[in-house]
Amino acid sequence: MKFPVATIGTLLVSLVSAQSDTINLPDVNSTVVQKHLLSRSNLISVERRQRQDYLFRQNLSSVAQQADAIVKALRQEEIDDFWRVPGTLANNDTDERFAGEMFPRARPLINETKLWDVVRHMPKGALLHAHLSAMLPYGILIDTVLDTEGMVVSADQDVSTELKRENASIWFSHVNHTVATDAPSIHSADYVPNTEIPVTVAAATFPGGRDGFVDFVKSKITVQPEDSIRHELGVDEIWRKFQTAFGPAGSMMSYEPIVRKFYQQLFSRLAADGINWVEIRAGGSSGNLVHEGDEDADPDLDVWWDVLLEELQAFQDSEAGADFWGARVIWSDSRGKDTASLTKSMSIALERKRRFPDLFSGYDVVAQEDLGRTLADMTPEFLWFQEQAEASNLTIPFFFHAGETLGDGNSTDLNLFDAVLFGTRRIGHGFSLYKHPKLINEVIENAIMVEVCPISNEVLRLATDILHHPLPAMIAHGIPTAISNDDPAILGQNAAGLSYDFYQTIQGFDNIGLAGLGALAHNSIRWSNFEDQNDVDWIRDIDLAEHGTGIKAQRLQEWNEKWEQFCQWVVDTYGEQFATAEI
Ligand SMILES: *[C@@H]1O[C@H](CO)[C@@H](O)[C@H](O)[C@H]1NC(C)=O
Ligand SMILES: *[C@@H]1O[C@H](CO)[C@@H](O)[C@H](O)[C@H]1NC(C)=O
Ligand SMILES: *[C@@H]1O[C@H](CO)[C@@H](O)[C@H](O)[C@H]1NC(C)=O
Ligand SMILES: *[C@@H]1O[C@H](CO)[C@@H](O)[C@H](O)[C@H]1NC(C)=O
Ligand SMILES: *[C@@H]1O[C@H](CO)[C@@H](O)[C@H](O)[C@H]1NC(C)=O
Ligand SMILES: *[C@@H]1O[C@H](CO)[C@@H](O)[C@H](O)[C@H]1NC(C)=O
Ligand SMILES: *[C@@H]1O[C@H](CO)[C@@H](O)[C@H](O)[C@H]1NC(C)=O
Ligand SMILES: *[C@@H]1O[C@H](CO)[C@@H](O)[C@H](O)[C@H]1NC(C)=O
Ligand SMILES: [Zn+2]
Repeated sequence: MKFPVATIGTLLVSLVSAQSDTINLPDVNSTVVQKHLLSRSNLISVERRQRQDYLFRQNLSSVAQQADAIVKALRQEEIDDFWRVPGTLANNDTDERFAGEMFPRARPLINETKLWDVVRHMPKGALLHAHLSAMLPYGILIDTVLDTEGMVVSADQDVSTELKRENASIWFSHVNHTVATDAPSIHSADYVPNTEIPVTVAAATFPGGRDGFVDFVKSKITVQPEDSIRHELGVDEIWRKFQTAFGPAGSMMSYEPIVRKFYQQLFSRLAADGINWVEIRAGGSSGNLVHEGDEDADPDLDVWWDVLLEELQAFQDSEAGADFWGARVIWSDSRGKDTASLTKSMSIALERKRRFPDLFSGYDVVAQEDLGRTLADMTPEFLWFQEQAEASNLTIPFFFHAGETLGDGNSTDLNLFDAVLFGTRRIGHGFSLYKHPKLINEVIENAIMVEVCPISNEVLRLATDILHHPLPAMIAHGIPTAISNDDPAILGQNAAGLSYDFYQTIQGFDNIGLAGLGALAHNSIRWSNFEDQNDVDWIRDIDLAEHGTGIKAQRLQEWNEKWEQFCQWVVDTYGEQFATAEI
């Protein structure tokens, strides 16, 4: 831009005179500044009243308020001193570190923090959204398979090269006939596809021995950290990898003795993580078990339920399980099923509900929402199912996955409307709910809770990291939410329980803090489906919370006690180091 000479002169004069003028800043204590600061804090506190965790925060005991303040200071110190590390040119900045970074990058560091110690100790309430075969770290399951007599592995092609290892499908089964131990194993180029190889032979002869074999099997059933962070490849690509994990994982869980050990390991790890109650999504296709010593599955579909009931009881009778309230199953059909196989599966579900009313909680449809049938498309089947249940006096509420998508207005996103209209009691993920003001009101008015799975949403590429997740927006709008883990074994947590998802949540958002995390755990119990209830009783007990008279109120009271003890532990453990003047 060009200025005429005269204008430049004027500009210079005005600059110089501005500099020489004394600037009359109002004093920070002046009425005008104080008035702004007052309006500011009023506006912030008015907004906070809309938060879903507002009432929980209002009712914090003084010990809980102290613990909240201590954890706030502790967290801030770690953000500044532990997480904020600039990367170096020599490492292509791959050593850059910051609070809230991608989970697979943060994971190896999280366990060094004090905030992790706090989260590990917290009573977490209920785990409400998790898929059975992806709930327990696979190292434990693979070890069990290797130590169980008669287990064999098969592959649809040899796995002699890197490419073939990636491409092959593998599965496990139990046999009671003699299997040749000298046939070329799966790692050999001479392997005959689909030949059963004893797992002990496959492991002993595998390159790298047993460890090499275990690593290979893990690579077939877990999403690797380097894949998790490749957000540039999008949702469908990671789902293709993710879905292939369920086949081999499910095959490991078809033999009854292994399934029994799986449940013991699972329940004890959940309890050790401070979880008292779990609702497991399972069923559908995973119904048949092979008894000890057999090789064919028992066609009796009750076996799977009996085994779960017995193992649950055994765990609750043990010392570690004394505090464990129990488990229920949300029957889950694949949304890939056509009408004939869906209604067939629904009939099987109705029959299981008749026989196992306490263990059978509700109904859902699962698998990639973007590629499967929409809820709207399945309307006739759902209406038929509801009618059947009603005619048989069976209470089978819906707990639909919905809005687990990046879509805005496409058919996956619109599933949220169907879920609400079908009276779903909770929504699985609800990732796209924040785009729908009308639905947000409906969800709040009808007390529908969203089961939020932050790490799952990140690894399955809906959010690049915790900081991009809509959870804080949901809480701020007043939507009831609780934290779940979805598929921790496949999605790179290598842990059962909720600690990593809780950690990410408290680490990511200043507005949550320990009190907000407590509210989320409290919600998980308020929205647990402990027993069959009609819609009126269900809502009444959510509203009354600990002040009710039923089983829900009793469990909330128990949790409140654990929460107070935990807050006292925080004060005792970290109070001195993070002395705070705020209280
Ligand atoms: C403002 O008021 C506070 C508290 O009364 C006082 O500590 C501070 O020194 C004052 N600041 C100024 C600039 O006057
Ligand atoms: C507040 O918390 C106390 C202690 O946990 C509990 O007994 C009480 O019922 C709560 N009150 C409300 C209104 O939630
Ligand atoms: C940094 O990136 C360059 C270019 O991609 C690569 O050649 C080099 O090996 C990388 N260095 C490190 C330490 O990763
Ligand atoms: C944290 O976990 C990593 C493995 O992810 C392990 O190597 C490390 O020893 C652990 N550190 C602590 C302090 O537990
Ligand atoms: C991958 O496996 C399929 C069978 O599942 C096979 O048809 C294809 O040839 C394999 N590709 C490679 C590169 O091994
Ligand atoms: C082997 O398995 C078959 C099929 O499950 C079963 O009928 C048979 O009794 C088993 N044999 C032995 C020796 O256990
Ligand atoms: C329906 O089931 C409930 C318990 O869930 C029971 O109290 C009621 O009597 C049953 N009604 C009929 C008609 O069977
Ligand atoms: C909806 O939109 C998202 C974002 O573009 C996309 O990933 C998803 O596949 C879409 N779903 C359908 C059913 O088209
Ligand atoms: Zn799920």
